[in-house]
Amino acid sequence: MSQRSLELIAGNACPGLADDIARELSIQRTNARVGRFPDGEIDVQIEANVRGADVFLVQSTSPPVNDNLMELLILIDAARRASAMRITAVIPYFGYARKDRKDEGRVPITAKLCANLLAKAGADRVLTVDLHAAQIQGFFDIPVDHLYSAPVLVGHFKAQRLDPLVVVAPDVGSSKMARGYANRLGGELAIVDKRRVSAESIEVGAVIGDVKDRHALLIDDMISTAGSITEAARVCHEQGAKSVRIAATHGVLCGPARERLREAPVEEIVLTDTIPVDPAGLPNLTVLGIAPLLAEAVMRVHTEQSISVLFNRQAGA
Ligand code: R5P
Repeated sequence: MSQRSLELIAGNACPGLADDIARELSIQRTNARVGRFPDGEIDVQIEANVRGADVFLVQSTSPPVNDNLMELLILIDAARRASAMRITAVIPYFGYARKDRKDEGRVPITAKLCANLLAKAGADRVLTVDLHAAQIQGFFDIPVDHLYSAPVLVGHFKAQRLDPLVVVAPDVGSSKMARGYANRLGGELAIVDKRRVSAESIEVGAVIGDVKDRHALLIDDMISTAGSITEAARVCHEQGAKSVRIAATHGVLCGPARERLREAPVEEIVLTDTIPVDPAGLPNLTVLGIAPLLAEAVMRVHTEQSISVLFNRQAGA
């Protein structure tokens, strides 16, 4: 067991999740004041001695993404200047991840920029869940532990005994993830042919695979404006699915998302709490806690144990 103290600190993005992680670890969250100066600049003070400590900073870079990212960078700086021995950025949802390559001229690779900023600020490690693309790990020059929410989601749907089941990827990009779930849950696989027209709207073509008379489970890494998943749900419904459920790790839920989800022909919407979700107006929403998984990973990092055992329990690869 490590002799260094474990200090868990949170910004304003997901303090409830940080509390749940602390509870799982049977520790108190270390207080930090993360406020604003009158002009909007971020003001941080860690309210306990963290000299020589193993510090874990819990902060999703979810909307308001720029504020949350900046809070995290400033918390890292504060911990580093307070002589923490090691700083792990626990980023349950890593934002800006969709900008991971130059797909047009003169555009940034913002995921790489964020990785650089975190390392430059002083993070020694990153612990995250369901990156939009697994290869983003390689954008960091510091160790990244990439967890999968699959054990949590698979457990939920296994208990429902959906038979016959078809796991549906709302686009080709999520087909690998969907195949992992189909294998774990004992269902078939279908893929929706999606074309993004703009950031907020998409067009859906054919469904590759059979959804008729089957319970369709649509699975994605994130729901942002909810265009992708609700359009895919509508097509499955139209094609005679017995029931339609949707699930994603990260509920970004911006713009028209809540309205689209409310109107979608789905029995259940399942998200994890990597981003806090307001259940108001979404009666068929289930939010699954990710804290036990993150707490186990935090403890394994702290005690220098392998965390690959957690990867081996996942279904997404
Ligand atoms: C796409 O590559 C992602 O996996 C999601 O399907 C997408 O980002 C969701 O966005 P929206 O909810 O706005 O359609």
